[in-house]
Amino acid sequence: MTAHLINGKQIAAEIRENVKQKVEERARLGLPVPGLATVLIGDNPASQVYVRSKQKMCAEVGIRSFGYELPANASQEEVEALVRRLNADPNVNGILVQLPLPSHLNEERVLSAIELNKDVDGFHPVNIGRLAQKGREPLFVPCTPAGVMVLLEKAGTKLAGSNAVVLGRSNIVGMPVALLLVRADATVTICHSKTRDLPAVVRQADVLIAAIGKPEMVRGDWLKPGAVVIDVGINRVEDASAPKGSRLVGDVAFEEALQVASAITPVPGGVGPMTIAMLLQNTLRARELADNAA
Ligand code: GUN
Repeated sequence: MTAHLINGKQIAAEIRENVKQKVEERARLGLPVPGLATVLIGDNPASQVYVRSKQKMCAEVGIRSFGYELPANASQEEVEALVRRLNADPNVNGILVQLPLPSHLNEERVLSAIELNKDVDGFHPVNIGRLAQKGREPLFVPCTPAGVMVLLEKAGTKLAGSNAVVLGRSNIVGMPVALLLVRADATVTICHSKTRDLPAVVRQADVLIAAIGKPEMVRGDWLKPGAVVIDVGINRVEDASAPKGSRLVGDVAFEEALQVASAITPVPGGVGPMTIAMLLQNTLRARELADNAA
């Protein structure tokens, strides 16, 4: 058996196209187009690349983006003052503070300062709290986890009653994706560095979400035959035969997994493009919330 490839690149392109058409329709009707503020603090090269990519994708779908950069030594007060200013700016519908923050800043306080209606990353404690509670609806769901759920849906995965295993418990991916899977009626196991006999736990998974940041850690013989595998890892590894001397791999040994899984996301071209697509969708929704509040 060779697994079906879940084409995140194509699915993300379709979502962006849908957002683009809705933004164009707004412009035709003379309605304000959505605006996203990106806040980049410090000079983390990966964060710089991500933020630039978010701004470029905004431009492609007609969303206005407003880039703010603060130095690595910006104070807590400066960062919160910027967030408050963006909260008050009617052209800004979504506020994205790129994580991780420099270590002297209090992340929870920064994220709590973002107005709920503009929390397009879904990291405000109230939105995460609602995600974790029955019968509550977050205004926004974090982008990478939301993208994972879209990929599972597009692959036709039956989640209700399934055993879902999440590798990793980060605030950005592991924990919110586990909460979303619970909401979809899966039986969820969250694994981390202290988990005993990880391969045995993973072998129980009908659905595996790997978000642990360790290149090709999950081997083919860890997988239950027919499992659906979503690989969130993006790891650069040295490869003398690659044009750049390195290449990207996921947290799952892809070639091995292909022989065992029923469906799998490739790296690159799986989860990666979904994050920004979901951010654009959330930003459009934030603009629509602003319309309704007006
Ligand atoms: N850092 C890594 N992923 C994300 C994300 O989805 N949003 C923000 N703000 N920072 C991140």
